Amino acid sequence: MANPFAGKRIIITGASSGIGAELARQLASQGARLALAARREPELQTVAAACRERGGEALVVPTDVTSEEQCRRLSEQAVAAWGGLDLLINNAGISMRKLFAELDDLSVLANIMAVNYLGSVYCTHYALPHLLQSRGRIVVISSLAGKVGAPTRSGYSASKHALHGFFDALRVELAGSGVSVTLVCPGFVDTGIRRYGEDGALRPRGMAVEVCAGKIVRAAARRRRELVMTPIGKVGRFIKPFLPGLIDRVARRKVGLP
Ligand SMILES: NC(=O)c1ccc[n+]([C@@H]2O[C@H](COP(=O)([O-])OP(=O)(O)OC[C@H]3O[C@@H](n4cnc5c(N)ncnc54)[C@H](OP(=O)(O)O)[C@@H]3O)[C@@H](O)[C@H]2O)c1
Repeated sequence: MANPFAGKRIIITGASSGIGAELARQLASQGARLALAARREPELQTVAAACRERGGEALVVPTDVTSEEQCRRLSEQAVAAWGGLDLLINNAGISMRKLFAELDDLSVLANIMAVNYLGSVYCTHYALPHLLQSRGRIVVISSLAGKVGAPTRSGYSASKHALHGFFDALRVELAGSGVSVTLVCPGFVDTGIRRYGEDGALRPRGMAVEVCAGKIVRAAARRRRELVMTPIGKVGRFIKPFLPGLIDRVARRKVGLP
């Protein structure tokens, strides 16, 4: 089908920038109806205007996903506007960049868990009754750091591993319901999250955000259970059980450790 998301009712968290904003623009080009969630309202309004220009409908719902109440309101407002829900994209996320031994402020770890893990769980909880009605889809933006331990991103890696545990279990619970769960593991993507972390240093160039979002939209359309990006990510998941030390060395090199 050319435009599988035409007229579909979609929530995207973390839609104010990066992958979430690009997902919104691409889905809008298919004629989707989008509820755009994140904390920064002016940025959401800019993304909403771009979505409308592309032929989609867009509703801005300022949301902090660490608040269960705000996640509940997000689903409520999307359903009030569009009469139901076909797709939830749990994309909001924050990262870190520090060796655990050098981390003075442990609240960094709690914040990452609250946004990346609990935020996705809250949004899913309140969207699920509507997704069950529509036999809809759940997409979760994890990371290759959800597959292997990523040095200097221990808390981030933990939050993404938690997503795999939770959403793999939920997929099993939902078997036969018609609702699919797609876990997405990008490698480095050129977005604002590159700037997160205490040293402010940029990482090496990654995948273009347009390419990444395109792959996610296609995986969602096909209801794939998992999408692992980058050649290293694809090969790595098969060799990890046999050569775990090699994977550790690649992970160190990827973040510039000797
Ligand atoms: N870029 C990469 O290399 C890469 C690789 C693998 C996976 N990912 C994953 O892709 C997802 C999107 O990241 P990105 O690269 O597009 O980074 P980004 O441009 O920094 O976008 C992150 C989004 O999350 C939102 N967000 C952060 N805290 C939030 C909160 N408490 N409540 C609601 N929204 C919140 C931000 O919006 P506000 O600040 O307006 O709230 C923003 O829209 C993340 O889950 C990330 O882990 C990224």
